[in-house]
Amino acid sequence: MLKGGKAPAPAFGDHAHGDLDAMHAAAAECRRCELYRDATQVVFGEGAEDARVVLVGEQPGDREDQLGRPFVGPSGRFLDRCLEDAGIDRAACYVTNAVKHFKFKRFGKRRIHEKPNAGEVRQCAWWLGGEIERLKPALLVALGATATFALLGKRHAVTADRGRIVETENGVPTLITVHPSSLLRSRGRPDAEQELSRFVAELRQIRPFIEG
Ligand code: URA
Repeated sequence: MLKGGKAPAPAFGDHAHGDLDAMHAAAAECRRCELYRDATQVVFGEGAEDARVVLVGEQPGDREDQLGRPFVGPSGRFLDRCLEDAGIDRAACYVTNAVKHFKFKRFGKRRIHEKPNAGEVRQCAWWLGGEIERLKPALLVALGATATFALLGKRHAVTADRGRIVETENGVPTLITVHPSSLLRSRGRPDAEQELSRFVAELRQIRPFIEG
């Protein structure tokens, strides 16, 4: 296992009081950055309070913003299928995002995803750190570059460390892998099948952490 880089997050546990439900309610009033202005609602993490594995995505998408739940749109359905192929029950995990509000640009009636910037990720680390502090997971799973940055800072990158388990500054083992949306986008490319198998193989590393 590698030693992780400096996390951009505030130290886990020095903030956010109450249990996960209380944090969710508090996050609904969050004004730490401007993203709450255009989003429909906060999309907090969800899953078992005793989950041993926490999956971290980037930010809610259009569907998640409407429903107020993480990973319930196309990326979420695809992630669920990959987890199933890897022998993992999503219900045994806690699923959340680095950023809790949908960031987008309007094109006519459409709302197009916009990547959150480093400042927004840092501000939202307040909530992510609080979730991790409460759950005390055996494993974090960083899905893509934004989650990797949120959990590990700049010393790890998906390109260099994909498939490896490293540690956050606070010593939590963290599996680095791609975001499922990158695989959805690459469908039809010659290496798409290979990339999908690689992702499922990486997710299989979660199993021993769930089984304890
Ligand atoms: N992509 C994410 O990173 N998170 C979601 O909740 C949905 C799509």
